[in-house]
This record gives sequence, structure tokens and C-alpha cells, in this order.
Amino acid sequence: MCGIIGYAGHRPAVPVCIEGLRRLEYRGYDSAGVAFVEAGGLRIIKQKGKIAELEKDIAASGNVMQAMTGIAHTRWATHGEPNQVNAHPHVDDSGKLAMVHNGIIENFGSLRQMLQSEGHNFVSETDTEVLLKLISREKNGEKSVSKAISKALQQAEGAYAIVLVDADRPGEIWAARKHSPLVMGLGTGENFLASDIPAFLPYTREVVFIEDGELVHISANSWKVMDAVTLEPVAKEVHTITWDVQAAQKGGYKHFMLKEIFEQPRVIRDCLTGRLDTKEKCVRLPELDTLEVPKRLVIVACGTSYHAGLWGKYLFETWARIPCEVDIASEFRYRDPILCEGDLVLSISQSGETADTLAGMRLAREQGIPVLGLCNVVGSTVSRESDAVLYTQAGPEISVASTKAMCSQLTMLMTMALYWGQKSGSINAQIMQQAVDGLHNLPEALDDALPAMRETARTISRKYADSRSFLYLGRGPNYPLSMEGALKLKEISYIHAEGYAAGEMKHGPIALIDPHFPSFAIALDDDLFPKVKSNLIEVQARGGKIVALTNSGLDLDVDDAWILPRAWGPLSAFMILPALQLFAYETADYLGKDVDQPRNLAKSVTVE
Ligand code: G6P
Repeated sequence: MCGIIGYAGHRPAVPVCIEGLRRLEYRGYDSAGVAFVEAGGLRIIKQKGKIAELEKDIAASGNVMQAMTGIAHTRWATHGEPNQVNAHPHVDDSGKLAMVHNGIIENFGSLRQMLQSEGHNFVSETDTEVLLKLISREKNGEKSVSKAISKALQQAEGAYAIVLVDADRPGEIWAARKHSPLVMGLGTGENFLASDIPAFLPYTREVVFIEDGELVHISANSWKVMDAVTLEPVAKEVHTITWDVQAAQKGGYKHFMLKEIFEQPRVIRDCLTGRLDTKEKCVRLPELDTLEVPKRLVIVACGTSYHAGLWGKYLFETWARIPCEVDIASEFRYRDPILCEGDLVLSISQSGETADTLAGMRLAREQGIPVLGLCNVVGSTVSRESDAVLYTQAGPEISVASTKAMCSQLTMLMTMALYWGQKSGSINAQIMQQAVDGLHNLPEALDDALPAMRETARTISRKYADSRSFLYLGRGPNYPLSMEGALKLKEISYIHAEGYAAGEMKHGPIALIDPHFPSFAIALDDDLFPKVKSNLIEVQARGGKIVALTNSGLDLDVDDAWILPRAWGPLSAFMILPALQLFAYETADYLGKDVDQPRNLAKSVTVE
């Protein structure tokens, strides 16, 4: 999830681009760069680190104020180390085309081989350089840059928003998108392209949203949106934005947490890009190809990542038949765990910097046990110290309470269980097909469901906002989800909540139940429904009120039945999770709490 901007106008482009990057820095910040077209040709300045590092280089680069056309990028690495060479913009062999990119080109390996066999050299490890060189190759036989881009994009699979300049055509910029955000800003004598509106909001409020499969050409005084294949013009509506910059960074949402909850369909899509083969009905995780199928999996994590691990256990055991243990990292590191040959330690961490998780994985490595990292931040300590690493591709998570990161972890855990199930032959073809198709259709289904879910969360949360305590109840894989629901509620609303295995209620917690102590149950249409239902009847018999996430058509009589769309098997987790997050969010917001920065908490706990 990188930030990109392009500017063609009457102002010096470099400061406009840098200012734009600053307002996009929340999208990623491991390197940054700018390319600009001036009388002498194309110049590129790029640097590892935050935008301040880039600015130092720009200050040392002489006069940069002549160029009125420029493109720039702030990177959240997906391919290759976050270093200067991999930083964008990238440039083609002729030194004339420069491009910035947000997204992932899935078939970049085969395209790279093809281009190498034709004599193209690559300096970076990025998929972006491959796509640019493909465009450059197509441009050799074409006068029209748009046509060259169109031809290249027809060979590229994956997700992208690209913005490109050509030193031979100063004053012009091209852009295209598929599954990655791109917006155009229309000014007077200047036009903008960016991955998000805040980038150009100080200059214009007139915005055109670019859709998948569209190609754009702008100059200072003109803009045109075309179909990326036929190059026929596409009529576009101009929208006027009324938000301020801060609200725009939140995409118009009141809080980052809410924005991140609503980003989850996109996160699932990004996570699955290149990993799901819907034709062959299989998954591809080349990062794991060199590892044996583990004899036992030991998951080590903290907080929300720990809950994700607990959920994953069910799939590793059911589909891949791999025995799986899940440990809280701060416990694991001090309890002299027994690790054996054939074990694999899976360290799950959004930030990749959590001190206890790092200590847990170091302990395993000292005993010669391989460690697989599942994390969101390329170049983080978890990624550097693991024997293999899988990235969750969720993009930076700003809100302290983790939401979209867990969604991406669940997506990856499910994909990993399918991968090992397929490798060891323990999963049957029908399940594989249902899982692959289900995952493929999931982003759209979740996108459709989220608005109504938020409305329900708002209505129900108002009824229970004065509760002092909540029990969250679930069974099977929904038990760890109930723990996550409770964690979200206590983190941001400061209402005490505990997640409990519904069947364990009668061994203690049921003593707490009275009309002022509500329970939040997960009672979906699955094999365990009859069991959960009886547990809930026991609660009701003690006068306890119940909110239940459930499905239509089930025989369940509770105070607030919250009907969720049906989803196949474990995919129901992707409906349950946002409902739990939204309930906590709406409660906390109603109570006037600081949702994005709750008291006493840190986003990344880098000390013990
Ligand atoms: C902190 C955060 C949580 C997060 C946990 C683990 O407590 O507030 O949201 O789940 O750390 O973080 P990690 O980056 O390792 O997933």
C-alpha cells in the first residue's frame, strides 16, 4: 500500500509532489522518491527512509524548481528490501520513461525472464521495474504512449495503480489502475493524479475517481480517461470534495479504525493476489516451497495476532492434519518449551517488532527450530530474523486497535492450511475447490455486507453501552473470535469483557450472570449451533440478556439477533470479525472514547 502522486501544471512540480507525499505518508514510509521532467531531460531522486531523507537529497541536488511535471512515491514494500535501489520511481533502459506503482504484479517473474531473454537488464528486485520495462518494450514499436501502456497492461496480471512520465513528452502524465486506488484532481491550469485525495486537496476539491480498467492522460490544461484496452474515451463524473485534509486521510471516515474496518475487503484481495489459482483450484505460496510440511506447528504471538493464531489452529489441524499449539509469546519465552525436530515455529506479528514475539522466535532458533514469520511490515525484525516470511499485505495500520491486520492474518492462515493440506494430500478436492472459490468471492461479499453491519452495530451498541461487563461466547473456531471481540470492546470502550468457550460457562462464569451482565454470543449455522444454543438457554434461565451473531432461519430466541450473511465453512469468520469490531467501535464512539488512540495502549510493544 504505497502512496503515489503525479502533477502537471504551472507550479514547480517537485515541492507539490513532496507536499503531496507528506499527506500520503500514512500509506507507507520505508522509502520515497520523485521523478521530474525539465529541459535537460528526466531527473530522479530517491532515498531509503522517510520523506525527510528524500528532502535532504533534494536540497543537495541543485535547482529543482524548473520542472512543472513530476511523479512521486512513498513506499510500503511488497517486493524486495526497502532500500534506495528498490525505491520508486523506476526508469527504463533508455532513461526516458519513469514510473511509480502501487500494487503487485503477480506474473512479474515470467515477464522478467522474458524481458531478460530479450536483453533488458534489471537493477532492482521490484515488480514495478518489470512492468515499466514491459511498457518501454511496447513503446519501441508505438508512437502512442497510451497504446504502449495498454499493450503492456494486457500482459500483466495482478493489481496496480501506475503513474508514468516520458522525457520526450514533457508536460504529460499517464496513469492506469486495476484493484489499487487512483484519483484525479482537476485544477485550473494544473491536474493531479494520486492514490488518495489528501495528496492534492490544498490545490483542488474537484475530483474524478478512476475505476479499474481505465487509463488516464493528463497535462496542465487537459485530461482524458480511456478504456485501457480499446482506448475509447470514458465519460466521467466530477465530484466536489467537502472534507478537510485530516478527514480525507481517513477517507471521510470519522476514525482510522472505522476506515480500516471498511478496508478489509481490499485487504483480503491484496492478500490473495498471486496466491489463489481459481483455474487450477489451488493456492500458491512460493515462500513455503523450500520448507518441509511441518510435523508440528507452534504458533507464537501476542494480542490480536495471538487470537488469529488460535483460530488458525483449527484449520491446520482439520485441513492439513498438522498438530498445532498456540502460545502467548510472553509465556512461551519463559516456560522452557519442548521443541523437536520437524517442528516449525510460526511467529505472527502485524508490526514485526513486538518484543515478546521476537524473544519467542529467537528461543526457537537457538534450538535449531526453523521459524516462519507472518507479518505485515517488510524489512521488520520478524521478517529479517525468520527463515521464511509471508507478508500479509494489509498496508499500514494506524489505529492502535488492530482490525484489518487480523483479517489479513486469517486470510493467510487459511491459505497456509490449504497449501499444506494440498502438499501433504490431506485435503480433499471438494473442500479445496469450495475454499478457493469462497476466498475468491469473499471480498465482494464482505463489501456488500459492511454497510448494513455498521447500521446494526450502531443500533445494538446503543442499547448496551451502559453495561459494566460483557461475556463473549463462542465454540470451536468461534471461541478465539469471541476472545477477539472481547479484546476489541475492552481496548477502546474500557468496558470489561471476557471471551469464553460457551461450553465452559457452567463451570464458573455463569455465576456472574444477572439482568445487568449481558453476553455477546456467536451462534451461526454450523455443526456446533445446537450446543451453543443450549449454552445460551442456560444464560437466559439466569436472566442474562443476549446479543447473538447468527444466520437467518435458525431457531434462536435472544434479545438481539444480529443476522449475518451466510458464508461457507471457516469463511464465516470474515463476517463475524467485522461485526465484532464494529460493535466495539460503535460502543466506544457513542461513549466518546478516543477510538484511535486508547489510553495506556501502544500500537507496537517493543519493550517487555
Ligand atoms: C499491541 C497492539 C495490538 C497487537 C499486539 C501485537 O498490544 O496494541 O493491537 O495485537 O500489540 O502486535 P503485533 O504487531 O505483534 O501483531
